[in-house]
Amino acid sequence: MKRVITYGTFDVLHYGHINLLKRAKALGDYLIVALSTDEFNSIKHKQSFYTYEQRKLLLEACRYVDLIIPENNWEQKIDDVKKYQADVFVMGDDWKGKFDFLKDFCEVVYLPRTPDVCSTNTKAYLAKEKQAA
Ligand code: CTP
Repeated sequence: MKRVITYGTFDVLHYGHINLLKRAKALGDYLIVALSTDEFNSIKHKQSFYTYEQRKLLLEACRYVDLIIPENNWEQKIDDVKKYQADVFVMGDDWKGKFDFLKDFCEVVYLPRTPDVCSTNTKAYLAKEKQAA
């Protein structure tokens, strides 16, 4: 069985995320998503619209996702790859080159991002709507 692992916040889940997850799963048989915790997001000075549990619930309903684990810090990736026996590490190409150090442990693939969609824009729109209400 070929195992694939990917990381992200996956806030206000959108078709760009689904495209990424679908292509990540197609690289193997089993897809693990390491989902940023709310605590890790605040370390990154990011606040998600949905909580970790809400984001996890949405990802659990996605047919391409087999396992969700928490992403608590920047340093856990090597340990995760070993622990979950990942053969492939996948990220969108906005991260191109950033995780090449994992090549000592598994294959590293950067997939092209889906154009014209991101959580940041949806969150900005939702915040504006809330203000106007
Ligand atoms: N992703 C993608 N295409 C998009 C948006 C995201 O392929 N249009 C990928 C990212 O490259 C990453 C994964 O989806 O591998 C999770 O990304 P995340 O940062 O959670 O989503 P974004 O929409 O990019 O969020 P933000 O606007 O907060 O950066």
